[in-house]
Amino acid sequence: MSDNILTRHIALASGNKYTVRVLTRNASSKEATELAAIPGVIIFEGETYHEPTLRKALRDVSYVFANTNGLAIGEKAEIYWGIRLYELAREFRVKHFLYAGLEYASKLGNFDPKYRTGNLDGKGKVVDFISHQPTAPMAWSILTSCPYMEGLSEFMRPLPDPHDPGTMVFTAPLGNGKCPLIYLEDYGQYSRWMFDNLTKSRGLELHVGTEDIAWKDLAAVFTTVTGINAAYKDVTLDEYFQLGIWPDANAILGYSAGYDDGSFMTVRENFSGFWNTWKDNLTKRDYQLLDEILPTRVKSVKEWMVKTGYRGNYASVLKSRRGVIEKRSMILYLTLAFGYLIKSSISAPNLWFLVPNIYVSLGRMVYRRLWCGP
Ligand SMILES: NC(=O)c1ccc[n+]([C@@H]2O[C@H](COP(=O)([O-])OP(=O)(O)OC[C@H]3O[C@@H](n4cnc5c(N)ncnc54)[C@H](OP(=O)(O)O)[C@@H]3O)[C@@H](O)[C@H]2O)c1
Repeated sequence: MSDNILTRHIALASGNKYTVRVLTRNASSKEATELAAIPGVIIFEGETYHEPTLRKALRDVSYVFANTNGLAIGEKAEIYWGIRLYELAREFRVKHFLYAGLEYASKLGNFDPKYRTGNLDGKGKVVDFISHQPTAPMAWSILTSCPYMEGLSEFMRPLPDPHDPGTMVFTAPLGNGKCPLIYLEDYGQYSRWMFDNLTKSRGLELHVGTEDIAWKDLAAVFTTVTGINAAYKDVTLDEYFQLGIWPDANAILGYSAGYDDGSFMTVRENFSGFWNTWKDNLTKRDYQLLDEILPTRVKSVKEWMVKTGYRGNYASVLKSRRGVIEKRSMILYLTLAFGYLIKSSISAPNLWFLVPNIYVSLGRMVYRRLWCGP
């Protein structure tokens, strides 16, 4: 459970209107323990993608908020489990099923392969399925989202310009396109609105976002808010995948699937489609409707930066990335310790010059990985 899911559940649990049963694989994790401390939250331990567990978890439940993790299990399993969750919810007489959707990028792009994005398309296909179901006896709603604004502190964060370290550079293969971003706390509030307004939300697919923003405007807003020089660097996809943001761009996207049956996309394939989708402005949100539903919503990236004190620093957002960062911190410590041992064991003074070089190379590598995140 990530901070973002935590946020959603705080939104759902606030005011003691609902008791929230949270499914997690590890009830004693830090995140689950924090959730358990919130009044009205009950932790339910078990595998998410496991029918006997789901059958137990769904007992006596009135409403479901389903967010499957396509990044972890791959597109094929995400489609299967999205539909299966809907079917099980019907079987268990759930009153209202809220599905956390994403854009069906391939379909929006007329199935041009350049837009194919497994982690968007998988959820998009489930959205298509659900939106063709009746709204009685079980009603459904869909919250179709977009990249989390908080990703600006993680995989979309700016890096110092190597030639001018005083300037922070937002690098993306986005051209002049506008990428929508959603503030997670508002995402939580929209899901709360869905359950509090069952008549209005029945059969509604709501596309949520805070703002669609071009990266040159993002850099400009960053400078206005922080006073730090910033620039946008538009790059090709090849250049983007060389940045180290994704350490292994050829890895399959579906790290916890445990098999490879040929249906997986690689990180490179998936995130090429992802950026092409935003670059060509394939998606659209009705911000007037969002203002009506959530008048208090954060309305711009600028407002979010001011509200959160954003300065482009790294902050952990996704739980799945957190373990990797911790492992990398450990590698950094081990690297420094290793360097110290080498330094202590080199007695010949003419070899001493090697030490700073080793430090610099290893340090640069580890620092870059830490800086960019996993
Ligand atoms: N990141 C974004 O900008 C963004 C934006 C919109 C939508 N999404 C979608 O949100 C979903 C991922 O959630 P997230 O962004 O909140 O990521 P996250 O912080 O990494 O959380 C993923 C959650 O998935 C749960 N999970 C259950 N079974 C899992 C398994 N077998 N392997 C790995 N994780 C498992 C984990 O819960 P436990 O560890 O407690 O079991 C974990 O907390 C993805 O489908 C993604 O496409 C992401």
